[in-house]
Amino acid sequence: EIDFFFPKQRTLAVIKPDAMEEHKEKILEEIHASGFSVTQLKETVLSREVAEEFYKEHREKPFFGQLVEFMCRGPCMMLLLTKENAVEEWRAMMGPTDPDQAKETSPNSLRARFACDILHNSVHGASNEQHAAEKIRFIFGEICTEAEANSGDGQ
Ligand code: TYD
Repeated sequence: EIDFFFPKQRTLAVIKPDAMEEHKEKILEEIHASGFSVTQLKETVLSREVAEEFYKEHREKPFFGQLVEFMCRGPCMMLLLTKENAVEEWRAMMGPTDPDQAKETSPNSLRARFACDILHNSVHGASNEQHAAEKIRFIFGEICTEAEANSGDGQ
């Protein structure tokens, strides 16, 4: 019944290669402590093709090559997170893209505490609901359709 008034939302979160060795467990712990359900979880090394498709919105940016290279350099943890207002809440937990800015404005955020620089910034989160749906489908494919069918939120 509560789901009816506060519908669950899904987002795609990624623990990036720079954070996998030192901070993965801590980040997962904080995800759970913040009330997210981890609906799907997959540890994988992205191929260049998958990384390029994943970040296709940035294809024309000067940092695109470095970004793809970095994302392929080791394992990533892909997570389908479910919670009320998940997209915004996960973005808030991450903090701003640039960790120097994060340290100023959101010192408790994951990027403020764990990221090295604007490229090696530890975590990814979908920026809106539409991107979330698209990236979830891209990463988790049909598994997600079943999860959606079973989640009872009517979307
Ligand atoms: P963006 O979507 O702008 O940020 P966010 O990850 O916070 O949604 O950028 C995607 C990634 O591209 C970002 O996490 C790191 C990289 N990036 C750079 O390397 N340099 C930059 O100047 C920007 C803006 C992003």
